Amino acid sequence: MIFVRAIAKRVALFLSPSCVISKLELPRVLNSDDTVLTHEAKELKSFFRRAVYIFRHAVVMSDCKCPVSPPSSVRGMTKLDRSAFKVSMDVPGLPVPVKSISDFNKKFKASLCKITKLKPIVLLPESDELHKTHRLFLLDPNLYKTLNDFSSRQQEMLKEIGVDIKSFRLYPLELGYDNWNVTEIMEAVLPEGTSNISGFSTIGHIAHLNLKQEVLKYKHLIGQVVMDKNTMVKTVVNKLTMIDNTFRNFQMELLAGEENYITRVKENGLTFEFDFSKVYWNPRLGTEHMRIVDSLGREDILYDVFAGVGPFSVPAAKKGVIVLANDLNSHSYESLQKNVKLNKIKGSIGCYNLDGREFIKTVVKDHMCKTWNECVENETKRNIVFTMNLPALAVEFLDSFVGLLADVKDHDFIDSEWVTMPKVYCYSFSKSDNPNKDVTDRVVAVLGSGILHDLNIRRVRNVAPNKDMLCATFTLNRDILLDQQHQVLHEGPPAKQMKMEEAAV
Ligand SMILES: C[S@@+](CC[C@H](N)C(=O)[O-])C[C@H]1O[C@@H](n2cnc3c(N)ncnc32)[C@H](O)[C@@H]1O
Repeated sequence: MIFVRAIAKRVALFLSPSCVISKLELPRVLNSDDTVLTHEAKELKSFFRRAVYIFRHAVVMSDCKCPVSPPSSVRGMTKLDRSAFKVSMDVPGLPVPVKSISDFNKKFKASLCKITKLKPIVLLPESDELHKTHRLFLLDPNLYKTLNDFSSRQQEMLKEIGVDIKSFRLYPLELGYDNWNVTEIMEAVLPEGTSNISGFSTIGHIAHLNLKQEVLKYKHLIGQVVMDKNTMVKTVVNKLTMIDNTFRNFQMELLAGEENYITRVKENGLTFEFDFSKVYWNPRLGTEHMRIVDSLGREDILYDVFAGVGPFSVPAAKKGVIVLANDLNSHSYESLQKNVKLNKIKGSIGCYNLDGREFIKTVVKDHMCKTWNECVENETKRNIVFTMNLPALAVEFLDSFVGLLADVKDHDFIDSEWVTMPKVYCYSFSKSDNPNKDVTDRVVAVLGSGILHDLNIRRVRNVAPNKDMLCATFTLNRDILLDQQHQVLHEGPPAKQMKMEEAAV
């Protein structure tokens, strides 16, 4: 939509009355020599030149600002040599009286020379008679080669603001490394036909790239360019493998900058600090975290089984929700504790460093029973919510709910009107052609078809070609929690519980 609007705006800009007329009236002479062209032919030529330029900019070079490319000699460079990017060119310029600068700026904004780190207005040399009274405006070299490239409407406008078109001149300019953006530099350096580096994520001061095999030869140069062109970036890393380890952190390689992976990010107004090389953090999950946290009421209880560094748990606790947050990775657990303090959480949050199954079968089980007994006693209701964001494996952990309360003595409370069954948000990946059915089948295979009545499958995002991340939302029921047959009794060693703050948990 933005693209269509941009084209429409540009076309409208150039369909000035004079251009329309010149399009309708056929020119008598069409010659490459501007001096013998009729007025109409000049206008038409100018119109087409603009049209081609607009098309190139809007369609082909939408990301490219600079009207000239770096020198061809930089092609294939593997070690960054910034001095090799120098290029000289003549840019069209128009001296504009100082008093008309603002008018000219407004009327010719679209015609100015747009080059990174270059102001399109310069002082004239002292030797120039206009030095004191005028400033030189640099114009887009793709639009203006000679003064004949100004449409008659533009010539009128120039006259109105006291600009003498005859003072049009070429201004010698030297461009260098600073005048191109990452895409332009990569287009010039990487072998022709190589796909440019696709975008990268920034996690605090760290830029995280996922380079294709074909550009690995240039990886250090790419890292350096990304750092040079993004002042906030101090460390550039490349993802080495798919995340397939238990803790879901990336294996990464330093491409440029400091080897410092301890970083701070803001998500949904809160601060998270962690070591990006040791824990999981995905900047693309902010909306999902907010969606779940927003759905929680202040009286609710959240059991965050795979909490990471706390993007569900910390904002929920900030809101007043009672939170039990768990992660098996000790680095995540430490950052989680740190983030609770960093965000001055005054509510109740307990942090645990356990296997997810262990967490559900010990800590959660006790807490849930205690909560429900209190609910019955006080004749109040409390919503219980589970977040299980370990998409590669979470569905397999659902068996922890089967028969969870079967060995609890006096579990009659479960049938009380004051007990509300827990809601589960269980995330999963799917590579199936029918991801909803795939996830539904897997959840039902563990928990039975009893959960189908309110099972909802939502697509969270596409993580790779043919791979989606989905969220299965459903409510547990008494049959699952009391299932005698499938109950797997916890026989392991006592849980390694590391609670941080349990005042009201
Ligand atoms: C995909 S991350 C999600 C982190 C966080 N909830 C988020 O939304 O960004 C999954 C987390 O599960 C943790 N994890 C992996 N296996 C686990 C297990 N068996 N028990 C508990 N946590 C586990 C990892 O350390 C990681 O922090």
